[in-house]
Amino acid sequence: MKATGPNYAIADLALAESGRKQIRLAETEMPGLMAVRNEFGPSQPPSGARISVSLSITVQTAVLVETLVALGAAVRLASCNIFSSQDEAAAALVAAGVSVYGCKGETSEEFWWCLDQILDWTNDPQIAAHSGESAGGQARLGPTSVLDDGGDLVYLIHQGLEFERTGELEQSKSWANWEHEIVRSLLESSRLMSSDRYATLASSIVGGSEETTTGIQRLEVLEREGRLLFPMINVNDAVTKSKFDNKYGIRHSLLDGFNRATDVLIGGKTAFVAGYGDVGKGCAEALSGQGARVIIGEIDPICALQAAMDGYQVARLESVIEQLDFIITTTGNIDVVGAEHYPRMKNLAILANVGHFDNEFDVPALEELAVSVTEIKPLVHEYHLPNGRSLILLSEGRVMNLGNATGHPSFVMSASFTNQAMAQIEIAQNAANLENRVYRIPKLADEKVARVHLAALGAVLTELRPEQARYIGVSADGPYKPEQYRY
Ligand code: NAD
Ligand code: ADE
Repeated sequence: MKATGPNYAIADLALAESGRKQIRLAETEMPGLMAVRNEFGPSQPPSGARISVSLSITVQTAVLVETLVALGAAVRLASCNIFSSQDEAAAALVAAGVSVYGCKGETSEEFWWCLDQILDWTNDPQIAAHSGESAGGQARLGPTSVLDDGGDLVYLIHQGLEFERTGELEQSKSWANWEHEIVRSLLESSRLMSSDRYATLASSIVGGSEETTTGIQRLEVLEREGRLLFPMINVNDAVTKSKFDNKYGIRHSLLDGFNRATDVLIGGKTAFVAGYGDVGKGCAEALSGQGARVIIGEIDPICALQAAMDGYQVARLESVIEQLDFIITTTGNIDVVGAEHYPRMKNLAILANVGHFDNEFDVPALEELAVSVTEIKPLVHEYHLPNGRSLILLSEGRVMNLGNATGHPSFVMSASFTNQAMAQIEIAQNAANLENRVYRIPKLADEKVARVHLAALGAVLTELRPEQARYIGVSADGPYKPEQYRY
């Protein structure tokens, strides 16, 4: 990270103007966040909140961050993935006074250092600006709330505390040993600074929100084991998040990533999509829309049956592997494609992951197998195998729609991030009444997010007449579906 200052470490401050122009354009495509600014701007519900945010540092994230700031919060932002930053968005936020840590292509050491930095508010200039005090000199200060994408920030907080107490670090299933050693060394340095640094930083956290499926799975483990330290709002499972961002968002950004990375024709080719959940459904639709023949791999009979009814062949990877031009993983699971598969793949088959972590393809096994690797361009690598074939791996096996492209477009992120803004307002206003559990977004709020986006598309909703409402047993103002409805 070449540009560093008292409250930032990013790629290049000179990109701020370019970032600002893109943010201005994105705002027009993010009606939900604009509506939140209008509705809550005057009352400033999270006023005084210190929110530590770990999200891909994109133009869309910038609009969310500036919405939280417009409502009176201060934000320290780091990336949730080493390849998913848009450096111009980071620069524009820094120029606007937000504290930002991260750049595209940061190392894993830098990634964890950035997460640690956003938890430490001690000398943050935004606090001085809020309180009118001069920065520095005060006791160590932590966030009041966290906003996480994938669970690494929440993991770091929980492990930081545990490490200070016991010197032990829990091995997360999501990373290799070498990455644990990075976290261990970070926490050892923190403990040298102060033996209760994480305890102090965490003591002010009243709650938070989580963005994605994988992060929710990790939170639910903490909740089940009674170890969750504060209430967390599950944004992912808002219908206006997972049934839109995960599905329609990837339907757009998968192709964007493919095209920017390889520009290879998709029509007529054969693609294997591992996982037919929300993200897998969006990927399959995008690829078949381009004329690819799509084969689905699933472990869940319900999702597999959905895939079959949607017209896709459902098969095991092993039984079709020689036919595949593209293999896309969307499972949120580990070791979906491994050493046994690579030698059987077609020459120049393209491998891409869009699940949250880089453990769906066994990349170390591919590295071990390859006789050499050619970098075609950044985040596009050709692995030459001993059998004379090569394979193209995108984004080193990390989220390819954010590594090779810029993630989902603004409109769909508006729905996700309107839920995030509302979740942060709820934490600021009501955390004292919540237990250390994972909470869903209420259906009425979910419907409100849909409503504002409908209006922006010029779509006109049919009004439910009172006698019709009585007949189907709902209120004319919603919610229109029971909690268990699946959409
Ligand atoms: P999901 O639970 O709806 O779908 C995952 C599917 O994979 C499930 O149907 C599951 O049965 C299936 N699966 C699990 N193990 C499998 C295996 N070994 N082989 C085949 N199928 C298997 O989850 P989702 O919301 O679709 O999210 C999937 C992943 O994508 C998560 O890691 C999530 O965090 C991430 N995500 C990424 C983006 C992005 O922009 N790249 C956006 C949203 C979510
Ligand atoms: N996840 C997927 N697309 C994204 C985007 N554009 N911004 C932030 N997070 C994302």
